[in-house]
Amino acid sequence: MTEVGVVFYWESEEENRYSGNKWNLLLLHDTIKPLGANLLILINPKQLPVPSFLDDEMKFEIYSSLEEALARHKEKEFVFLESPRNIPKDLEAVPLTQFKHPRGDTLYIIGPDSSNLPLSKLAKKNLIKHLVTIRTVKNYSCWSFVVAGIALFDRRAKLGCSNNS
Ligand SMILES: C[S@@+](CC[C@H](N)C(=O)[O-])C[C@H]1O[C@@H](n2cnc3c(N)ncnc32)[C@H](O)[C@@H]1O
Repeated sequence: MTEVGVVFYWESEEENRYSGNKWNLLLLHDTIKPLGANLLILINPKQLPVPSFLDDEMKFEIYSSLEEALARHKEKEFVFLESPRNIPKDLEAVPLTQFKHPRGDTLYIIGPDSSNLPLSKLAKKNLIKHLVTIRTVKNYSCWSFVVAGIALFDRRAKLGCSNNS
């Protein structure tokens, strides 16, 4: 079965009012599962507590850094998502409307709500093949779970998925 994963950052409630509690984990899980993801990854650099979580249909992994998660999943295609206003000038992002999603195992990677993805650092390590942006009104950034929902819906719409995958 194709693995479709979404990487989110796990932050404290001080940094991000809705994060770091069980409702946030449910929000992430319940956003991505109906849209075809079967792997939920949390990046938890500050080793914050994470509620216990069990779902036979959704793999769940926690890493202390994004680099660690990417190394563990190096056989997958990475799709980095970033808002138009946070794309460094020397990098080019494809608008989601024009993006061709990889058909195989894929990780959609979303940055922390309190900041954004370390794109320049990732580019220096040659880790960025797909950099995708969702064009928004006045280049506003969206909440991370909203971005995940839009990207996964777009994948299903373009790749023509069945009701069970
Ligand atoms: C809430 S945003 C970070 C916002 C940042 N603090 C700011 O003020 O612009 C969290 C993550 O969601 C993703 N994201 C938000 N808006 C996006 C967009 N329009 N297109 C693609 N990804 C987006 C990016 O991965 C971003 O790092």
